[in-house]
Amino acid sequence: MTDAPHRTVTLTDDATGKKWTFPILDGSMGPSVIDTRKLYSGTDFFAHDPGFTSTSSCESKITFIDGDKGILLHRGYPIDELANKSDFLEVAQLLQTGELPNAAEKREWNKNITMHTMVHEQLIRFYSGFRRDAHPMAVMVGVVGALSAFYHDSIDINDARQREIASHRLIAKIPTLAAMAFKYSAGQPFVYPQNHLTYAENFLHMCFSVPAEPYKVNPVLAHAMNKIFILHADHEQNASTSTVRLASSSGANPFACIAAGIACLWGPAHGGANEAVLRMLMSIGSKDKIPEIVKRAKDKDDTFRLMGFGHRVYKNYDPRAKVMQQTCREVLDELGIKNDPLLETAMELERIALQDDYFIQKKLYPNVDFYSGIILRAMGFPMSMFTVLFAVARTAGWVAHWQEQLNDPERKIGRPRQLYTGATTRAFVPVEQRE
Ligand code: ACO
Repeated sequence: MTDAPHRTVTLTDDATGKKWTFPILDGSMGPSVIDTRKLYSGTDFFAHDPGFTSTSSCESKITFIDGDKGILLHRGYPIDELANKSDFLEVAQLLQTGELPNAAEKREWNKNITMHTMVHEQLIRFYSGFRRDAHPMAVMVGVVGALSAFYHDSIDINDARQREIASHRLIAKIPTLAAMAFKYSAGQPFVYPQNHLTYAENFLHMCFSVPAEPYKVNPVLAHAMNKIFILHADHEQNASTSTVRLASSSGANPFACIAAGIACLWGPAHGGANEAVLRMLMSIGSKDKIPEIVKRAKDKDDTFRLMGFGHRVYKNYDPRAKVMQQTCREVLDELGIKNDPLLETAMELERIALQDDYFIQKKLYPNVDFYSGIILRAMGFPMSMFTVLFAVARTAGWVAHWQEQLNDPERKIGRPRQLYTGATTRAFVPVEQRE
């Protein structure tokens, strides 16, 4: 926060004429906030803001979004530059430390992550407890939470070194666990990590190699995977990140907090949207059906929405969607997929929607999920894995927020209040006297 001369706002109770003054706090970018921490103690009122559409829940230095301009910065660096010039582990390091590493720091970080890529052999047995047809996200919630039963030496949140090791473990092990969830559902043997590969290469190797055949990672696909991971690495105080922070505010261990984040991400309004986009594109089938689908999306009496369009924060083109569209083309070209009907439908849908008054007026643009499903499907991932890939990438952001919160001297347990509209006090009536 800046130390600029203090501005204030005054709140007036129109019924009594009472007035209270609150400080305005300025960040380094973005809207200022009204500091309402003393609202209740000073006024006897709570603020009511379901969905937190106007509430800042914390102070953070990690990610900045300007939704009106379509800007996303991690530690000040634009997302498209990071996606095009960096690699995922470097972005994860940037999110944690606040700085792009020099060559020695980068080597050290990569070494620290890769030395933790394997999971405890006994943890592997957890998988056989799940049904083969279990959704891989259900498996992820379980096994990531279970890490706390295996790594007792890194769950003391008051020990900075243990926090650091837990962060490394989470970032290192999440692709291994995700690939195992994939292999388990496919009925194939687990593949151990290969530490000479990059993060993205290693993940593809663990997902797609089989013991019966040699496997060489396709560099174009690894490049795309790296970009997809970077584009999903963090996104400020979204639902799953806020869940991680809220879980952590009670002092819960890091593995439990990230498992809570995964559970939240699973919801279709959050990480599950790319699956919904793909289903929608498949159901459209051909370009001539697009006008009909756009008409349905605009119809107030129809609950149908154009999936992959609109965002709570972005009222402009999602900067991640632009990179995703380009990556989609690269992957389909590499795989020799010509005239992919899903991509053609998506591009035509985007073209028509962006010219349509309804979408222009409501500022509805394609979001990050609009193209990612097409890419992931072309790479060979089933739809059930899409959100899992999101969770792999977002772990870097979750861990950075978890660390930031624990380092905040003003840390408090998260405890929202409510507007109670239930029954008022009444006397208990014994069952035999109830009507
Ligand atoms: N198709 C048609 N109309 C839409 C769409 C859409 N995709 N999105 C919003 N609208 C309309 C709403 O009907 C509403 O119209 P009204 O003002 O006439 O009532 C108006 O635009 C505002 O919509 P809200 O739901 O109030 O906006 P909110 O910011 O709460 O919702 C959300 C954002 C949930 C993402 C929404 O745009 C949506 O449902 N999109 C489709 C699902 C999707 O793609 N989700 C992925 C989000 S990105 C992510 O989580 C990684």
